[in-house]
Amino acid sequence: MKKATYISVLVLAILLSSSFEKHRNTSYYPPSDSEIETKIDSLLSIMTLDEKIGQTVLYSSIEDQTGPIMDPNYVNYLKNGEIGAIFNATGSAFTRELQKVAVEETRLGIPLIFGYDVIHGYKTIFPIPMGEASSWDLELMEKTAQIAAKEAAAEGLHWTFAPMIDVARDARWGRIAEGAGEDTFLGSKIARARVKGFQGDDLNDRYSILACAKHYAAYGAAQAGRDYHTVDMSLNTLRETYLPPFKAALDQDVATFMTAFNELNGVPATGNSFLLKDILRDEWNFDGFVVTDYTSINEMVHHGSAETLEHAGEIAMNSGVDMDMQGGVFKDYMKKSIEDGKIKISRLDEAVRDILRLKFKLGLFEDPYKYSNEQQEKEIILHEDHLEVARDAARKSMVLLKNEGDILPLKNSQKIALIGPLADDQFHIIGNWAAKGDRDGIAVSVKEGFEAQNKNFAFAKACNIEDSEQPDFTEAIKIAKAADVVVMVMGESERMSGEAASRTNLLLPGYQQQLIAEIKKTETPIVLVLYNGRPLNLSYESEAADAIVEAWFPGTSGGHAVTDVLYGDYNPAGKLTVTFPRNVGQIPIYYNMKNTGRPQDIPGAHERYVSKYIDVDNSPMYPFGYGLSYTKFTYGRPELSSKTMTVDDSITISTTVTNSGDYDGEEVVQLYIKDRFASITRPVKELKGFEKIFLKKGETKTIEFTITPEDLKFHNNKLEFVNEAGDYDLFVAGDSDNEFTNSFNFEFKKSKT
Ligand code: BGC
Repeated sequence: MKKATYISVLVLAILLSSSFEKHRNTSYYPPSDSEIETKIDSLLSIMTLDEKIGQTVLYSSIEDQTGPIMDPNYVNYLKNGEIGAIFNATGSAFTRELQKVAVEETRLGIPLIFGYDVIHGYKTIFPIPMGEASSWDLELMEKTAQIAAKEAAAEGLHWTFAPMIDVARDARWGRIAEGAGEDTFLGSKIARARVKGFQGDDLNDRYSILACAKHYAAYGAAQAGRDYHTVDMSLNTLRETYLPPFKAALDQDVATFMTAFNELNGVPATGNSFLLKDILRDEWNFDGFVVTDYTSINEMVHHGSAETLEHAGEIAMNSGVDMDMQGGVFKDYMKKSIEDGKIKISRLDEAVRDILRLKFKLGLFEDPYKYSNEQQEKEIILHEDHLEVARDAARKSMVLLKNEGDILPLKNSQKIALIGPLADDQFHIIGNWAAKGDRDGIAVSVKEGFEAQNKNFAFAKACNIEDSEQPDFTEAIKIAKAADVVVMVMGESERMSGEAASRTNLLLPGYQQQLIAEIKKTETPIVLVLYNGRPLNLSYESEAADAIVEAWFPGTSGGHAVTDVLYGDYNPAGKLTVTFPRNVGQIPIYYNMKNTGRPQDIPGAHERYVSKYIDVDNSPMYPFGYGLSYTKFTYGRPELSSKTMTVDDSITISTTVTNSGDYDGEEVVQLYIKDRFASITRPVKELKGFEKIFLKKGETKTIEFTITPEDLKFHNNKLEFVNEAGDYDLFVAGDSDNEFTNSFNFEFKKSKT
């Protein structure tokens, strides 16, 4: 036995002895919270300063690259005990090998945590998060996160850098694809569902992995939609719109938080003690650990908020950062900062405590190799049940944007011309941030979906997503002429959304629009299926195509799912969680905007001097909450249990919904409320409830929503979270673009001042 191994085993044995052995014998594990704290006390008491610093250091292996700077020396750092966690290292064999170094070759043998960006699946890939959010199906989202966690855990991973819960209202920003969309209420529910899915009920469970609420905070509000750009917003907007999903994740016990790349009101999020200390620790009592984003401590020098890397490290640690991702700043400078008295050892101890606590909770001290099991890896990865859920998730994510003349669903008797750069694609279909998803053979293209179900079709690719010269459309035109219906699968490349993928042009790239124009001339009806990671400018397509199915990047089973939807084996029910603009100039555009003093849409509004554009309507192309079905839903007027609500009261809003069309189907019933006036202006409407229901053809259901004063609270000018008395308008409908149909009054004992 090597000397280091001997010492580490000895130290661990002493440390963990009493309870550890006892627990082994009685198979009682994990230790209780207080036992964990005692063990951490003991560990801290024997750790050297270098060993403590090591726990705060996270490095990427060279297996995968998710940022600009790589350091191949990470294995040497690991051997020296200078690393507490590794990311971008996957697979049972590889993680076991690295874990062995940590456990057997470092003095204390403290196990590593392995992290990875498991964003929308690990090997079985589900639709991109924004797509999946369009299902409004929280159980489904919990389930897909749970499967992603299971596959990741089977390959040695303990920690995902997900969910990304940044509210995003700018279609130019590529990372809008990774989140839940523009709405805070819905985004908060989805944050909880995804955290629950990844972490399960108990972190010690073999298939639970740590979740990470990112990017804290307000990363989605980057100016002009350019990634990493400045964020400058009122504290009211921060509290009302951008923070609640993070609070929701915390309420679901999310284990870790990741800082954001952006500055917020002049202070980079990674060195922002207002965010990290005042709010996260003091106000919300977070007891997990905070990791930076990729080299974001170092980047504080470029931001101009730190003079040197050493200075940046001090600001970050003193502001509440616990772990440095890839920057090496804590590794290289922390010792000096502590010796110089710039960082207190007690602050470092806090960080180390928070990191060790999660290592205990994961059960890694009991069995550091618990997650690295090759047999389980084989049994779990791409399990057929997972692929089935992926197919279901993809179908549920699709949004039917247009269906002129009920051209959809297609009929088996029809001859189809399947055209477009993405129709036979297995590469882009799984989207960006697709973890270990295969791009070469496992994912099912639409063409394969058609083949698997013996559809009657001819195929022509016609063009690439982007081409440098005019492609030849002859074959596509020929098959379009001979067909009853054309199905065109088009969109963006997977690289056009996700990190560092902002666009100023939201049109279909390349020659795709021209291809549609040429096919249009054949007069064969066009069904457009879109893959994209953001709202696109569809003003041309919405005229040219007879039907549009927004399929996002649908994932591993995407081709089957598209086929199911096009042929009516699944009746689409997805609803947009982001507003689609008419053009890029309308951005930011979102449904719960504020009014102006000169609204255009009031009786008697002046023709000219109102808030509008002179070249395009104010309304969006497709509003938040919108999505069609093959059937029709008819809503009754909402009835209220009372027209007044008092401070310790609630009211029930009930509405009938009838499936008055020709197919069974699902509908997302949405409740919107407007606070007519308040001491601080309020949005024109806000989503306050939703329920996804299934109705058989001809069936009627009564849907009830309960509203309490808590649901009506907002942050006033002093940033107090309060109720104010007044009138509230509401409607219940299938999308956000509807008239108010009822109202109630909230009575508060104090009068409004
Ligand atoms: C991204 C994070 C991601 C990290 C690690 C960064 O560039 O902003 O979201 O988790 O890389 O891959």
